[in-house]
Amino acid sequence: MTAHNALIVDLPPLPPLEEQLNLNGVAGLGHVLAPGEIDVSHGAILYLEDVTVSFDGFRALNALTLSIDVGELRCVIGPNGAGKTTMMDVITGKTRPDAGRVFLGQTLDLTRMSEPVIARTGIGRKFQKPTVFENHPVWENLELAMKTDKRWFASLRARLDAQAQARIEETLELIRLQHEATRLAGELSHGQKQRLEIGMLLMQQPALLLLDEPAAGMTDHETMELADLLNKLRGSCSMMVVEHDMEFVAALAGAFGKVTVMAEGRVLAEGSLDEVKRDDAVIESYLGR
Ligand SMILES: Nc1ncnc2c1ncn2[C@@H]1O[C@H](COP(=O)(O)OP(=O)(O)OP(=O)(O)O)[C@@H](O)[C@H]1O
Ligand SMILES: [Mg+2]
Repeated sequence: MTAHNALIVDLPPLPPLEEQLNLNGVAGLGHVLAPGEIDVSHGAILYLEDVTVSFDGFRALNALTLSIDVGELRCVIGPNGAGKTTMMDVITGKTRPDAGRVFLGQTLDLTRMSEPVIARTGIGRKFQKPTVFENHPVWENLELAMKTDKRWFASLRARLDAQAQARIEETLELIRLQHEATRLAGELSHGQKQRLEIGMLLMQQPALLLLDEPAAGMTDHETMELADLLNKLRGSCSMMVVEHDMEFVAALAGAFGKVTVMAEGRVLAEGSLDEVKRDDAVIESYLGR
């Protein structure tokens, strides 16, 4: 049992999820679901089937079907306008699909949940631009991120302090900002801010992390540091990474990791990076000859 789990057992039991979600669509979930509370008995953490999104008749997503295995780090590539960001908008409840099914694990129908409730199911999203509290020190950014997790907020103060401190230190080390802990977040480099924001998401112990072009604007060195970080997170959460930088994708996918190529709102190809790179349709629509 992890230190974090030890904290949870003191809290009163939660009402069944259905009951919490029945609060007129308002964020009913009082805590973030632990990964163990998501039914992944069939192996998938995320499942999209025939998802269609139209904007004034234009199909940004066109019967998109895709599934991510629990613990997987999936890279998604594809040309501009392929629908990659729209897909993340659908998963996080920002955009409602016109048709199709979107499930977290076996049982959580994301199309029926509000954006804040989806956030509490354990889906963390990283947007392209870093969003950190610029006027607060690095460590306080992590503390603030943790406090939005009610499990910590509601628990005993004394234990919270000791354990929270340990979590913050652990995360600082993971995102390699342990020497910047007292600096204002606004003073960090672009790459450091991106890692800090990922650290903030990690404070919530997400089951699934969605990262939309996290390496954009980074130097080559920062890009490889980010790849290292995401590779280290393998096993602790499932991840979906949308990216154009092929060296970054190669560093994440390795020889065997599955890469999804999207085009025109659907999956064009799926397979190892080498396989999709050799795919005629992919060469035609994305990589070029
Ligand atoms: N809110 C919206 N209203 C109208 N059209 C939209 C909206 N959001 C996205 N689109 C359109 O849907 C298509 C898919 O856009 P999306 O941003 O999902 O692509 P993407 O794959 O993320 O591209 P990029 O690689 O450039 O980020 C585009 O043609 C875009 O113009
Ligand atoms: Mg996009």
